[in-house]
Amino acid sequence: MTDLAGKHIVLGLTGGIACYKAAELCRALVKEGATVQVVMTEAAQQFITPVTMQALSNRPVLHSQWDDREPNNMAHINLSREADAILIAPCSADFIAKLLHGRADDLLSLMCLARPIDRVPLLVAPAMNREMWSHPATQRNFEQLAADGATVLGVGSGAQACGETGDGRMLEPTELLEDLIAFFQPKPLAGRRVLVSAGPTFEALDPVRGITNLSSGKMGFAIARAAREAGAEVTLVAGPVSLPTPRDVNRIDVRSGLQMMAACEAAAAQADVFVATAAVADWRPAQASDHKIKKDGSGQPPALHFVENPDILATLAQGARARAGDLYCVGFAAESHDLVANAQAKRARKGVPLLVGNIGPATFGQDDNQLLLVDAAGTQELPRASKLTLARQLVTEIAQRVSR
Ligand code: C5P
Repeated sequence: MTDLAGKHIVLGLTGGIACYKAAELCRALVKEGATVQVVMTEAAQQFITPVTMQALSNRPVLHSQWDDREPNNMAHINLSREADAILIAPCSADFIAKLLHGRADDLLSLMCLARPIDRVPLLVAPAMNREMWSHPATQRNFEQLAADGATVLGVGSGAQACGETGDGRMLEPTELLEDLIAFFQPKPLAGRRVLVSAGPTFEALDPVRGITNLSSGKMGFAIARAAREAGAEVTLVAGPVSLPTPRDVNRIDVRSGLQMMAACEAAAAQADVFVATAAVADWRPAQASDHKIKKDGSGQPPALHFVENPDILATLAQGARARAGDLYCVGFAAESHDLVANAQAKRARKGVPLLVGNIGPATFGQDDNQLLLVDAAGTQELPRASKLTLARQLVTEIAQRVSR
């Protein structure tokens, strides 16, 4: 299942060097299942040709309000009625100024003005030089545009085509795609703060070795993304994994169980929901050696002593905020057999209202999974699907429970 299946997107291009990224964006939208109708201003055509955009969208590009290919000769009306969303990427400073004043002297601005404002969302992805971006006129215009009901996506920061460095680059196509997908998701967690722990921990034995596990972090990262899509403010405390941070998620990287505990405790003071997906090492070496532990020739392994790591989930679930009903805690259980019985027992032992069971070997490192939800009311299966699909379903279930 693709995330934009059935969605019709009008992709507007205005004049800016970031037009070259719009080609990649168009391709990504189509790949995600959307139909895309491209509309270009005259300035946009100085940067990229309609031929390129037609080939990628598989539809003729529209650029003139006088285009007589439209049977009723009203492209601006037809386009804006069919769309599930209008996305302008790149959106230039000049085009913003036009939108703001309700000007309508080319097809794209005319279409934006003609859009049914309550039914067809308008999203804009600004792209411009850093001085143009930070100019009070531009900032004022974007604020007003947002107040008029448009969604202003952020800008990237870094090296610009002009040779300067700063804010104002258009977001990357993958970022815009993720933002658009998120835009269409329901927002049952709006106004909530969600903390997620994810990935393995690494417990150092010496400067080069340690104890870790095969948790990939994928399920936790998917939950962080899904919670953000559902409108929550999300903090993701991640053990050592090489996964990209989901959009707009505040990520805190840690290594050991103790570091994860400290980061989670600090973030939980502000959170409404804690989802513990991390595979925390049960034991850590009592003392990590300062030097690499060498073989001493005796054939005897070194004597290693271990102490127990704190149980982050149980600690937070039994803490004052959870007991007062201010922090809803969700645990995970990776089992190899007897999932229902083990998950129920773990739910009681950890003192959490909701425990999510899965079969460890079937999930570690995989892109899909299958979940069993265990709460006071009983058990519920979420059948095999991608981790993101399951994460969205789980987030919906959590949202229902926290709003009761
Ligand atoms: O006891 P077990 O490790 O099976 O429990 C798994 C659940 O507890 C997961 O939600 C995991 O993130 C959490 N956990 C934790 N801190 C630990 C061990 C487990 O938060 N030290």
